[in-house]
Amino acid sequence: MFLRLRHLVPGLVSIAIWAGQAVADERNFRLYAPPDLIESGLLKYLLPRFSLKTQVRIELVEDPAQAEASFGPEGNPVFDGLGQRWHFAVPEGGHAGAARFGDWIDSEVGRRTVTGFQIDGAALFSLPTQAQVSAETVMTYNGDAVAGRVKARGLCGRCHVVVAADPMNAIGSTPSFFALRSLGNWEDRFAAFFALNPHPAFTQVKDVTDPFPVDRPSPIVPVAMTLDDLEAIIAYVAALEPADLGAPLDHQ
Ligand code: HEC
Repeated sequence: MFLRLRHLVPGLVSIAIWAGQAVADERNFRLYAPPDLIESGLLKYLLPRFSLKTQVRIELVEDPAQAEASFGPEGNPVFDGLGQRWHFAVPEGGHAGAARFGDWIDSEVGRRTVTGFQIDGAALFSLPTQAQVSAETVMTYNGDAVAGRVKARGLCGRCHVVVAADPMNAIGSTPSFFALRSLGNWEDRFAAFFALNPHPAFTQVKDVTDPFPVDRPSPIVPVAMTLDDLEAIIAYVAALEPADLGAPLDHQ
């Protein structure tokens, strides 16, 4: 919502800055995470997605004493991985932006984002088995499905059938978006598609993926996109009628 407003009113951002320190502070907080967690790449995947939705920026700091929130052994259990359970803590009466991140990571969307983080198709983090799961189970897609259709055609339509009207445009062995939509975990696959083969070789998602290795440039015209684009594509795919495949599709 805020995002769309921002597109319409570019001046809004500067107004917010002008409005003073209080606003700026709410939109910025310092987070401590142990080196293991940082090295896993999860935060690099998680934080831009949160910031994109909320406009709250997170700065990682090395000293827990300088932080307004932290990942570690104390606080609300949020995920399991790297052989331990991770908790998120915001001190009592703490920072509003940090509290918002705490709510987000404990929400359906936040949890999906955590489990959507994959390396070579393997999810490194799972949800804590004992955690009380908050009531919200209805899925929400914040992207713009109409823009998503356009993006899907432009970015993915080279290989995938993405709209019913142009089945001839796609490469035969590549699953159509309708077939992918019929898979139970389609959202996870789309949320992580850039990490799933064959995409890493030719896909760049701004602020998320690393540049192509110098010795392995993209073999085709790269797919260059933003997380906004991906959110829009996911909203579009959510609205597609799943292909009726008769038997369950065994796609792996
Ligand atoms: C250059 C061709 C190409 C482009 C461009 C492309 N894909 Fe794919 N995609 C493939 C192929 C091939 C597969 C099947 C991989 C397999 O079956 O192992 C695939 C599979 C997928 C899957 C299923 C992955 C899995 O392992 O479950 C998703 C989701 C997906 N693509 C999304 C996208 C999105 C979103 C875009 C556009 C932003 C896109 N693709 C652009 C070729 C492409």
